[in-house]
Amino acid sequence: MTNLQHETTRRGFPVEAWEAIAPLYDEHVAPGESDLALAGLRLAGLRAGETFLDVAAGTGGLSLPAARLGAKVLATDWAPGMIEHFNARVAAEGLDAEGRVMDCHRLDIADDTYDVTGSQFGVMLVPDQARALREMVRVTKPGGRVLLTAYGNPGEFEALHFFISAVQAVVPEFEGIPEDEPPLEFQVSDPEVLRQRMTDAGLKDVIVDTSHQERIEVRTGQQLWDWLLGGNPIPSALVADFTDEQRDDIIRVLDGMVRERAAHNGPAVLTAPLNIGVGTK
Ligand SMILES: C[S@@+](CC[C@H](N)C(=O)[O-])C[C@H]1O[C@@H](n2cnc3c(N)ncnc32)[C@H](O)[C@@H]1O
Repeated sequence: MTNLQHETTRRGFPVEAWEAIAPLYDEHVAPGESDLALAGLRLAGLRAGETFLDVAAGTGGLSLPAARLGAKVLATDWAPGMIEHFNARVAAEGLDAEGRVMDCHRLDIADDTYDVTGSQFGVMLVPDQARALREMVRVTKPGGRVLLTAYGNPGEFEALHFFISAVQAVVPEFEGIPEDEPPLEFQVSDPEVLRQRMTDAGLKDVIVDTSHQERIEVRTGQQLWDWLLGGNPIPSALVADFTDEQRDDIIRVLDGMVRERAAHNGPAVLTAPLNIGVGTK
């Protein structure tokens, strides 16, 4: 990794980087998140008719399942392209939901507005997480709940390790992601750190459930590549200097790994541990 790439994965990506992956996110990532979204919404006790705010909502991985449960949803994200995809899905399904462009560090929402406020893989990765969490608490009604879903231990994130191994098979000098300074994505991968940060933001009775996993199902190396590059700007940054031939080789190696993992012609299932935190205002 070059110094510039290292700096970017440490400090977070600009809005343009997220905007660029919005179509891939909508097609390859968000649709596979509904089980883990429902696990979080259940823990937060979201009920039909309640108001739900999704922060750093992307194309609706959390807010579409919330709207399908019957909640009245506002989905916010700083990338307009993410919100456009969200609004298109809302219109297609006729859901009671709207999307608005907003930075999670400065929510344009009055105090004490929402029954439940959530963020899935969103506030997990922002640079000023303490401020974003305080904003989530501010806009939640007294007695309302705040939900934060984040990745657990990066060492058990199988898709990431498939990616690093495949890149190293093609580019042996590739160093991968520095273990001593993991990207912001993993800043609350320790459940106790997540619990403390949610408590510091003003929440009571914070619990962090570590019993759920993200499960992605892929049948080919290309599908895994699309999921990796669509889900986060980090993989694109890491392979930015590679030639087309090197990228094709990486996809070929991934393909072999996926087919080896798949059993009986079924898909390969890759998992990642989750920390699902819920607290009460
Ligand atoms: C990994 S995606 C998660 C999307 C969605 N919550 C989900 O579960 O599918 C991270 C999202 O955070 C958004 N994001 C990053 N920084 C943000 C900020 N400062 N304010 C609002 N959204 C932000 C990105 O645009 C992206 O849509």
